[in-house]
Amino acid sequence: MAKVNFDIPLDFLQASTPPMIGVDISSSSVKMVELSEVPKKAGYIVERYAIEPLPKDAVTDGNINNLDAVSETLQRAWKRLGGRIKNVSVALPAAAVITKKILLPAGLREEDLEYQVESEANQYIPFALDEVNLDFQVIGPAPGNPEEIEVLLAASRKANVEDRVAAAQSAGLKAVVVDVEPYAAETAFEQIRLQLPDGAEDKCVALIDIGASVMNVNVLRNGQSVYSRDQQVGGNQLTQQIQGMFGLSVEEAESAKRNGGLPDNYESDVLAPFRENVVMEIARALQFFFTSTQYNEVDYIVLAGGCAVLPGLDDAVATRTQVSTMVANPFALMALSSRIKPRQLQADAPSLIVACGLAMRRFDPS
Ligand SMILES: Nc1ncnc2c1ncn2[C@@H]1O[C@H](COP(=O)(O)OP(=O)(O)OP(=O)(O)O)[C@@H](O)[C@H]1O
Ligand SMILES: [Mg+2]
Repeated sequence: MAKVNFDIPLDFLQASTPPMIGVDISSSSVKMVELSEVPKKAGYIVERYAIEPLPKDAVTDGNINNLDAVSETLQRAWKRLGGRIKNVSVALPAAAVITKKILLPAGLREEDLEYQVESEANQYIPFALDEVNLDFQVIGPAPGNPEEIEVLLAASRKANVEDRVAAAQSAGLKAVVVDVEPYAAETAFEQIRLQLPDGAEDKCVALIDIGASVMNVNVLRNGQSVYSRDQQVGGNQLTQQIQGMFGLSVEEAESAKRNGGLPDNYESDVLAPFRENVVMEIARALQFFFTSTQYNEVDYIVLAGGCAVLPGLDDAVATRTQVSTMVANPFALMALSSRIKPRQLQADAPSLIVACGLAMRRFDPS
């Protein structure tokens, strides 16, 4: 599982990671999760979480367009969260990050490794190195060659990192970790893997995150991504169709979608065709996976993102693909604080994968 941490001003030299909350700034909302650890590492406790909607277009394609709006939403979310921790871990969208696996000689000293990484990075990164935040992680021995190691490089333009750090800062929070969304999702996925038979060892699991604007398909094997692809499908389309069909505002349509109360023909005229379209996109995405990799089946499908809870979607996906399908809940094996409403968490859990993975960074052994 990959883990990066872009170089940001940190109060480093601390023996352990400071307490922090995971903060996912996505296109539809800001999501915060605070976890604690059961003593002796027996597991996690969900202490608090909050989801606060963002105004339209404040964040698009992972870019912060309206810093004030994001910062105000962060403030509201933090108030609603009701905790005290002000250190946060945030993530950049995959599109804002260039990653590359490189091979380096094994046995380099730390300084030499850093130097080598920087000189290699020059070849792969289309910006001047002083314009980018660079991070790397040693993955392990290179497959089939004990004299080399595999190193994951991650680079992002400074502006991308700085926007998130600045938004947190003007909300009175402090970004101490900047991760990458798919890596955070992979961290949380470890909790989901434990819920699958035999931990899904040597199996392909398609983690399909259907958010507001994008559907990301990430196929994982033993916790490592073997394929990833974005498709432009998401819950906004359904919201727009509800608006058009029933003459509602965005807010009304969003609320009706979650809480019900739409006319009887909603199910047959709006929800069913949308669901059918999503199922078709998933089938297509899997087809792309099969044709572009050595694999020709997936063993499990895990639905995540806010749209995962759409009524009947999991069954429709299972029927169409003939693959065992579940809705993601990264908190299923965790204990819940008495503040948490279990049913509400169950409904919100699929959209909290990234925030959960970011919250888990608090317990990194470092
Ligand atoms: N209970 C629900 N029923 C139906 N749709 C829901 C429900 N809860 C959330 N959604 C929809 O899920 C979408 C938000 O999901 P999510 O929070 O995963 O998106 P996001 O991460 O902000 O978006 P993106 O990843 O595209 O940037 C919205 O379209 C919302 O209407
Ligand atoms: Mg998302």
